[in-house]
Amino acid sequence: MIQAGAGGVGTFAIQLAKLMGATVATTASEAGANLVKSLGADDVINYKTEKFEEILKNYDAVFDTLGGEILEKSFQVVKDGGKIVSVSGLPNARFAKEYGSGFFKTLLFSAASHKLTALEKKHHVQYTFLFMKPSGEQLHIIADFIESGKIKPVIDRVFPFEDAQKAMEYAELGRAKGKIILKIR
Ligand SMILES: NC(=O)c1ccc[n+]([C@@H]2O[C@H](COP(=O)([O-])OP(=O)(O)OC[C@H]3O[C@@H](n4cnc5c(N)ncnc54)[C@H](OP(=O)(O)O)[C@@H]3O)[C@@H](O)[C@H]2O)c1
Repeated sequence: MIQAGAGGVGTFAIQLAKLMGATVATTASEAGANLVKSLGADDVINYKTEKFEEILKNYDAVFDTLGGEILEKSFQVVKDGGKIVSVSGLPNARFAKEYGSGFFKTLLFSAASHKLTALEKKHHVQYTFLFMKPSGEQLHIIADFIESGKIKPVIDRVFPFEDAQKAMEYAELGRAKGKIILKIR
């Protein structure tokens, strides 16, 4: 299950999950529904009129891009032993360990994410925060997928470099369908 499939991250996540052979459910508004279906989403929940946590059950994993209450509700749709990965939730001790953070950072992350740790125990689900890091190797694989047409980048708007401020303001609205591009040359 992928939260906010029509966004910049979601449009890639759906296509990568489909390439890996997954069945994908996602949330979108009416404005994003056709887009996510065209990318391969099997089930589309209209987040404005439906409650995903009451419709979807027993999913292997959730990829969350929204955090907060939506991340917390996502525990309800994952089966025992499943996983939740979030790019918008709180970092936890597992994340600190994976990134080799020191004692104090680990303690801080544990304290900040205590609610999520309680949900992990309650639902028997593993949660981790993901912070993207540049990887030439991974970018190379994605570039191959794009060149071979296996993945289609979805572009919402292109801004010239001089309009970087406007691009940021537009991104902050959280309404993009796909990526917002800043053109350098
Ligand atoms: N941890 C990391 O390393 C990392 C890396 C990249 C991004 N991020 C974070 O990931 C988040 C997502 O980034 P993004 O670029 O994908 O965002 P985005 O492109 O701004 O997402 C906008 C999309 O989300 C949809 N949306 C908004 N609220 C929704 C909801 N409640 N349910 C379902 N869909 C909803 C909107 O649909 P409608 O307009 O149709 O409502 C819109 O299509 C951001 O918070 C970003 O900061 C983190």
